[in-house]
Amino acid sequence: MTAVTVRVPAKLNLQLSVGPRRDDGYHDLVTVFHAVSLFDEVTVRPADRTSVLVTGLDAASVPAGRANLAARAVRALAGRLRRRDKAGAQIEIRKRIPVAAGLAGGSADAAAALVACNELWSSGLTPAELREVAARVGSDVPFALLGGTAVGQGRGERLTAALAAGTYHWVLAFAAGGLSTPEVYATCDRLREARGAAAPALSTELMAALRSGDPAAVGPLLSNDLQPAAVSLRPDLRRALHAGRDLGALGAIVSGSGPTCAFLAANAGHARELAVSLTSAGVCRGVVRVQGPAAGAAVVTAERR
Ligand code: C5P
Repeated sequence: MTAVTVRVPAKLNLQLSVGPRRDDGYHDLVTVFHAVSLFDEVTVRPADRTSVLVTGLDAASVPAGRANLAARAVRALAGRLRRRDKAGAQIEIRKRIPVAAGLAGGSADAAAALVACNELWSSGLTPAELREVAARVGSDVPFALLGGTAVGQGRGERLTAALAAGTYHWVLAFAAGGLSTPEVYATCDRLREARGAAAPALSTELMAALRSGDPAAVGPLLSNDLQPAAVSLRPDLRRALHAGRDLGALGAIVSGSGPTCAFLAANAGHARELAVSLTSAGVCRGVVRVQGPAAGAAVVTAERR
C-alpha cells in the first residue's frame, strides 16, 4: 500500500450529562453522540518516522508535531502492534471541521489515522480492538470510529449504538476563536460548586424522540450541561442561540464544550432558510448545513503500488 485516505465526521452531543469531577480529573458522562456530515480527510503514507501536514480550515492552529492527536494515534497503534520498523506514517490532514470548536475535530483526525494505518499496515485489528486503542488516545476518539448516533458512558468512550430513525438537518454556526475543553469543564465545576453535581443520567424522553424520527420532538429535548460554562466564557454565544431560536430553529444548543452552536431544522428547506438568516444576523463567523447521522471513519481510497 502506498497511500490510504480516510474520511471522518464531526460530532454533536444531543445530550451531554456531566457528573462530578473524578479523582483522575475526568468527569463521568452520559452523552448522546450524533455524527454529522462535516468531514475531515486524512491520508497516510509509509514512513519510518511520523510527520504531520495540515491544510484547510484553521490549519495554522492545529499542532503539527508529536502533540498532534493523529500522530499520537499512530504511535498508540504502532505500540499496540509492537511495530519496530516502519512504525511511523506521513500524515496529511485536510480540515473542514473547525479547531477547538466542540465538534471533536482533533479526535476525528485521530480516529481517521487509526483506520488509515490499520489498512496501510494490513494489521487486521477488529473494530472493537481499534476502539480500545482509540479510547487511550482521547475520550471522543472511539465515537469517531463508530459514527451514527450512540450513547457514550464513562469518559464518553464506552459506546452503545442508539436506535434513531430518520435524518436530521442541522445548521452549525462557527464562532471566531475556540474554547479549551479542560477550561470549560473546570468552569462547569466552579459554577456547580455550591449545589454539587448529580450522577449523569440518560434522557429517556430524548431516546424516545430519536426513535420517533421527529425533529420537532427532538428539538426541545437537546441538552448540554457544559452550556452554562461555555456561555459564561463566551457571552456572545447567548446572542447566537437566541437568534437561532427567534429564527425558528426547533432546538438550539452549544455543541460539546463549544463554541460552535448547533440549530435543528424541520427539513432541508428550513435548514437553508435558517442558514441564510443566521448569516445575515451576523452572530457567527460562518455557517454550514449538515445532516446526521453520518457514518464513522471509513477508507475512501487505498493506492497500491
Ligand atoms: O479525553 P480527552 O483528552 O479528549 O479530554 C480532554 C479534556 O477534557 C480532559 O483533559 C479533561 O479536562 C476534559 N474531560 C473531562 N471529562 C471527560 C472528557 C474530557 O473532564 N469525560
